[in-house]
Amino acid sequence: MKALFLAGGMGLRLQPLTNKLPKPMVPIMNKPLLERTFIHLKKIGITEIVISSCYQPDYLKNYFGNGEKFGLKIQYIVEEIPLGTGGAIRKAASQFEKTFVVFNSDILSDMDLKKMIYHHKENAAQASIAVTEVSNPSEYGVIEYNNEGQVVSFIEKPKPGQNSSNFINAGIYIFEPEIVKEIPSDKVISIERDIFPKYIADGYKIIIFKNERYWIDIGTIEKYMQVHKDIMSKKCAISGFKFEGNEINMGKNVKIHPTAKLIGPAFIGDNVEICAKATVSKSIIGNNVFIGEGSSVISSIFWNDIKINRKAKLINTIVTSNSLINTNSYHLNDVYSNDIREKKAQ
Ligand code: GDD
Ligand code: MG
Repeated sequence: MKALFLAGGMGLRLQPLTNKLPKPMVPIMNKPLLERTFIHLKKIGITEIVISSCYQPDYLKNYFGNGEKFGLKIQYIVEEIPLGTGGAIRKAASQFEKTFVVFNSDILSDMDLKKMIYHHKENAAQASIAVTEVSNPSEYGVIEYNNEGQVVSFIEKPKPGQNSSNFINAGIYIFEPEIVKEIPSDKVISIERDIFPKYIADGYKIIIFKNERYWIDIGTIEKYMQVHKDIMSKKCAISGFKFEGNEINMGKNVKIHPTAKLIGPAFIGDNVEICAKATVSKSIIGNNVFIGEGSSVISSIFWNDIKINRKAKLINTIVTSNSLINTNSYHLNDVYSNDIREKKAQ
């Protein structure tokens, strides 16, 4: 089965993390989110992927190429203007002759997709929507369904009182190709606001599949921080990490001064130096990072190529790649994005 990834959004709510890269490429434990999802899909035999993008498509192409390096076959569809989720699915329709899967690219989940595909076929549905239960449904597309699990209403971002369900669209769909061809082509159109309500009104068989595993949309800074906490506290399982007993996952070529303090759970990437009397606690440190003498990094996330000078303190802070943190500086609940390569070039 082939999979389509909707990756054309601008990721405005994740700025400044998305200033230089598309949202699906933000690192989750030091690896792009989309790559983590691809690894999950490969395990169940989905290796043919179409990426529908618009914002910074070259970043995706440069990283994944034709997919060979990852054991995948990847094709790209680039929109000149964002066509919306429905327009993007319609534009990709010619790539899919058989039943196919569609993913929002900003979610991390270990949902049982195999079971969802089986459920879709067994019920001879025309489309299936994965749903997950949340306490604040108004940020999402809210789904109401009947006793047979058939969708009876889909309300995107409802106002208070407009819905009576805590089950939301998890952004994973299965479609039969025929139904997708009914979406008007070359138009800006939303699958959530325009198409699903129309399918329901027209009496199509759209069913739900209840996700019972971990699920998160990483589209805001809070959620981006949250997913890392969830991985380290073992709420969310992603392959390669155990975090048993506050474990520290250590990369290659890591130098830690004997007087430095490391408190797990933590992830330390490759080529990292942690100097005398520095502390790193419950944090994710990317590759090529230098943490200067006496500095503390607590509950923070560092991307790659970062230098922290002496006696700086960072708490609950994200630092993006190529940043330099000054001596004695203090960052609490901050997102620090200051590419020194650009400063030098100016
Ligand atoms: N190709 C393309 N073109 N992709 C797009 C476009 C577009 O014009 N607009 C958005 N996307 C992609 C985004 O990149 C993202 O992966 C996905 O579609 C969903 O867009 P978001 O902007 O993240 O939407 P949301 O999080 O507010 O709501 C969506 O996801 C929720 C679950 O996380 C909706 O699908 C909700 O119904 C759902 O509950
Ligand atoms: Mg989203």
